[in-house]
Amino acid sequence: MSHRSIKAVIPAAGLGTRFLPATKAMPKEMLPVVDKPAIQYVVEEAVAAGIDDVLVIIGRNKNALANHFDRVTELEHTLEQKGDTSKLERVMHSSSLADIHFVRQGDPKGLGHAVLRAKKHVGNETFAVLLGDDLIDARDPLLSRMIDVSQAQSATVVALMEVDSSQIHLYGCADVVPTGEPDVVRIKALVEKPSAAEAPSNLAIIGRYVLKPEIFEVLETTEPGKGGEIQLTDALQELAGDEQIAGPVLGVVFRGRRYDTGDRLDYLKSTIQLALDRDDLGPELAAWIKDELTPTLV
Ligand code: G1P
Repeated sequence: MSHRSIKAVIPAAGLGTRFLPATKAMPKEMLPVVDKPAIQYVVEEAVAAGIDDVLVIIGRNKNALANHFDRVTELEHTLEQKGDTSKLERVMHSSSLADIHFVRQGDPKGLGHAVLRAKKHVGNETFAVLLGDDLIDARDPLLSRMIDVSQAQSATVVALMEVDSSQIHLYGCADVVPTGEPDVVRIKALVEKPSAAEAPSNLAIIGRYVLKPEIFEVLETTEPGKGGEIQLTDALQELAGDEQIAGPVLGVVFRGRRYDTGDRLDYLKSTIQLALDRDDLGPELAAWIKDELTPTLV
């Protein structure tokens, strides 16, 4: 993928209460999915889309995140002396992925507030936002498609995915009209976490956004919404309601593989799925599930 001059923003300042006590002294973005912290998958996804500048919005327990993307010369030295090049590569990979910056969110006032904290770093440019609860399979590129659509139509672009209507209350939901392109819709309205009865569709926002800098001005005046938090969805709803502000708001409908790590059960499922896909772990794990685990379940 050729270099893209846009920056990525990864909000990672949530309290992670669903994973307590694991997240008592560690951000939830550092929970390992197989053998990599969730946030590393997200940074790798941004890098695969051609982005080399990543801003992480951090909360408490920021040290684990900062250390993960930093060099650890002592460990590198030990592995070098042992001649363990494969582990050495794995250790060095996360510190050479991209130019990673950190800013503190301060008060945890919601996703919209976290994104607003990126204003100074991003400046007057289009940028990408990636949420760590959603992992997108590297074989099904989404972000580069969103950036292309944004550039071609000078649009704000949100990633959407069809979910079961019983799940829509967990997501931002989009009211859409088709466009000429099969995977692109125009967003007429957005609502944060509606009930199934109120939801205008079963198209959920999954955590990828390509935003224009006008979003910052809108966020500055966005009132707290659902859960008393400043919601990114509400700011996007304002843009969708008035194309004069920043052009159209479009949705790219993703039909690829997505792994949810937002709650414990989905996190476990995602870890197993991703491990099954790996050449070094998959065959043995599959055999164990089939031969030893499955018989105990029936
Ligand atoms: C956030 C957004 C929501 C979006 C979701 C995707 O919610 O507010 O609109 O659908 O991420 O994961 P959260 O899951 O952080 O509560």
